Amino acid sequence: MSDGGRKKGKAVVVGGSIAGVASAHALIRAGWEVVVVEKSIAPPTRSPTGAGLSLDTVSQKIVNSWLRQPHLLQTSTLPLSIDLFLFILQATPVTYRPCGMPQNEATDGEKNIRWTLARDENLNFIAAHWADLHSLLYDALPPDIFLWGHLYLSFCISNDESNVKVKTKILQTGEIIEIVGDFLIAADGCLSSIRRSFLPEFKLRYSGYCAWRGVLNFSDNEHSEAMIGIREAYPDLGKCLYLNLGYRTHTVLFELLHKKINWIWYVNQPEPELERNSVTTKVSSNMIKEMYEEAEKVWVPEMVKLMKETKEPFINVIYDCDPLEQIVWDNVVLVGDAAHPITPHSSRSTNMAILDAAVLGKCLEKQVAENLHSALGEFQSIRLPVVSKQVLHSRYVGRIKQGLVLSDRNPFDPMIAKPEECQILLQRSVPFLGDAPSILP
Ligand SMILES: Cc1cc2nc3c(=O)[nH]c(=O)nc-3n(C[C@H](O)[C@H](O)[C@H](O)COP(=O)(O)OP(=O)(O)OC[C@H]3O[C@@H](n4cnc5c(N)ncnc54)[C@H](O)[C@@H]3O)c2cc1C
Ligand SMILES: *[C@@H]1O[C@H](CO)[C@@H](O)[C@H](O)[C@H]1NC(C)=O
Repeated sequence: MSDGGRKKGKAVVVGGSIAGVASAHALIRAGWEVVVVEKSIAPPTRSPTGAGLSLDTVSQKIVNSWLRQPHLLQTSTLPLSIDLFLFILQATPVTYRPCGMPQNEATDGEKNIRWTLARDENLNFIAAHWADLHSLLYDALPPDIFLWGHLYLSFCISNDESNVKVKTKILQTGEIIEIVGDFLIAADGCLSSIRRSFLPEFKLRYSGYCAWRGVLNFSDNEHSEAMIGIREAYPDLGKCLYLNLGYRTHTVLFELLHKKINWIWYVNQPEPELERNSVTTKVSSNMIKEMYEEAEKVWVPEMVKLMKETKEPFINVIYDCDPLEQIVWDNVVLVGDAAHPITPHSSRSTNMAILDAAVLGKCLEKQVAENLHSALGEFQSIRLPVVSKQVLHSRYVGRIKQGLVLSDRNPFDPMIAKPEECQILLQRSVPFLGDAPSILP
């Protein structure tokens, strides 16, 4: 413990996903006491929960500083050194040759066209499985700060704003308990119920499309036809973030450690009906069959095969929201998806959650509980302008990739797009990417 055994104060974190565990790391480092309330019954350790994500250079540095084992993150992930943006069109007449398409880039002149729209050889991201990243962070924390199987119900701030009482229900017994802290960190995700108590009218904004996702585990069949095919069609798998643009649709493809391939396919469609508190829909075998049939019309056979070999593909409904005007209210601060729901196109969500936590920790490090409000104010002033721009950038880029109407220009047409116009689709065009806030060492 710092300060000769005295903590600076105590934070109650609601949510034990990436933003929650990251906040726990940052606050403990800053000398604060932390308790994490999570409704899941047990840590998701090493279960195949979730899918792939990517971490930028700043997040890698921050996570490494928390893990204190220099190579652990690198050995638990694969590099993503190349950002490659391909255009793929199936069943195109042979005579059709989009302007700007190099002579030598068409493959299979009869059936599909494929060429590079943009390429960045210095991406320097890494690819992780959600469950692997979560357990790396979780395993490096004291287990006794976690209250699993605790559903957050409500909070109340004392009249003098010196503390916050958080009511939670122990799911296994039904018992309701109260936890007291100096402040509350809402890391309860894009559907945050803590946010709802400040913004009751708040609604997520449907993007116009959903994503089919899946992770192929090929550890038993490395030499299957599907795997040989996909490695031929995508020779840089293992170090490349592949983005395939089709007609008003796109896929993302990258490899994960332990013989897995992560893929995502974005499909324009009306907003589906959702169960409360979920951004995934139930998937029937019929829907999967229709997805395969649709894929055959759009994607190269190697990609279709990959999709067909993947067990239990699932659907994410894609939402974001207009940037919030504040993410701090009295003794409550929002972090991660609770603070800034965002579409996935700029790989920001997890990276933002990590940076939120690191900045919050630094703002609190200098302060004791008495100066809490100035620390939280500083956090908000550093993060809000950055996350707001990134949310809007990701929305814009998603609409380009899905061929949707844009406010300031015609829908993106890869047939006539100039090379400079394609650059915006690379990760490196994300505003503030790679900028570590000056408060961080
Ligand atoms: C199980 C899981 C798997 C995921 N897999 C991926 C992935 O593969 N790729 C990817 O890019 N992103 C994935 N995500 C999303 C990713 O974690 C987030 O987009 C991003 O990292 C920001 O995370 P977050 O912690 O802010 O929000 P979230 O990850 O959404 O976490 C919110 C947490 O709060 C908890 N919570 C919510 N309400 C309550 C309540 N009332 N009481 C107690 N606890 C509550 C939830 O159970 C959850 O653990 C996954 C999220 C989860 C929860
Ligand atoms: C992948 O498949 C192998 C072999 O069937 C299995 O042992 C392993 O647990 C699987 N991994 C995941 C993450 O499901």
